[in-house]
Amino acid sequence: AAAEKGGFDHFMLKEIHEQPDSLANAIRGRLDHDIGSSVLAGMGTSPRELAELSRVVLVGCGTSLHAGLVGEYAFEDLADVHAEVEQAAEFRYRNPLLGSRDFVVAISQSGETADTLAAVREAKQKGAFVMSLCNVVGSTIARETGRGVYLHAGPEISVASTKAFTSQVAVLLMMALKLGRGRRLSRDEGIRFARDIESIPTLVSRVVAQSERISRIAEGYAQNEHAFFIGRGPMYPVALEGALKLKEISYIHAEGYHAAELKHGPIALLQEGTPVIGLALDIPGKDKTLGNIEECRARGARILGIITEGDDEAAEFMDDYIMVPKTHPLVSTVPAVVALQLFAYHVARIRGCEIDQPRNLAKSVTVE
Ligand code: G6P
Repeated sequence: AAAEKGGFDHFMLKEIHEQPDSLANAIRGRLDHDIGSSVLAGMGTSPRELAELSRVVLVGCGTSLHAGLVGEYAFEDLADVHAEVEQAAEFRYRNPLLGSRDFVVAISQSGETADTLAAVREAKQKGAFVMSLCNVVGSTIARETGRGVYLHAGPEISVASTKAFTSQVAVLLMMALKLGRGRRLSRDEGIRFARDIESIPTLVSRVVAQSERISRIAEGYAQNEHAFFIGRGPMYPVALEGALKLKEISYIHAEGYHAAELKHGPIALLQEGTPVIGLALDIPGKDKTLGNIEECRARGARILGIITEGDDEAAEFMDDYIMVPKTHPLVSTVPAVVALQLFAYHVARIRGCEIDQPRNLAKSVTVE
């Protein structure tokens, strides 16, 4: 078993470390730097279909749902297309209004999640344009959608998803780029964004290299029973995903919140030493998030900041911080989430948790 884990103590840590490679596999051959676009043949869309699209609906569960939330920002930002995210379980029972100009993207690592599969069937029956974003080749969702883009992340063993999530985000960014180039994005903007996507594996290596430092930081957070993760813009879904990772494997009660929503509830729970993990990268909205972090600090919270390399001003606000490389705000979701994966992993390890197979959780939920 030790050999299977490639010398790592857990599959989760191995899979976190694999991300520079799994991301390179997701991206390889899929960017066209001359025209500043992406080549995703599996999408099966004609340029006309792309131009006529009226809406993108992203469906999934769990971590895959969080990837969809990053996608929502990307589609609206880069492609000026109305995008929404829906929990697969809710979508199927809500009588969703769908037509042939609606583009439904089912996101599922395993391709077997019951609710996501049901959402696919519902969308197909209503005549929407349906595609999938799966990791497992030949899985039910991949087969039933017929079109889609595989993640090529390799087998993911750890129940808590890591490398599948980052590849889902990378592929969604490439999809948004492609849609964007068919709509409002200029060639120059496309070229720049394609370069940023291309750099993701390198950015992620720089975070993975900080594992030991993050492990030392985790020592200071492993004794708490509650934690709050806050962010805004594309860092909001990263906050949700960071909280999910921590609760899944460390059993700490963790909540992801929009930084602005803090005042509408969770701030009442802050006490001396309550951990708040603040995503305060140097992207639009940073000053507002720093303001929210200051409010938490004033109530005694202990702050771990995820900030941009070299941002000494933001570091001043934090008790501890992890720095991630500067890049496009949407692209920076990937290195930021890797920092939180490592944080969750080390906290759980210090607490002596199972990690690869947390209690009550399954790798794939094939019943409703
Ligand atoms: C389970 C797993 C999660 C995963 C979710 C969706 O809850 O424990 O890690 O994100 O299912 O799975 P899928 O295979 O559809 O991405």
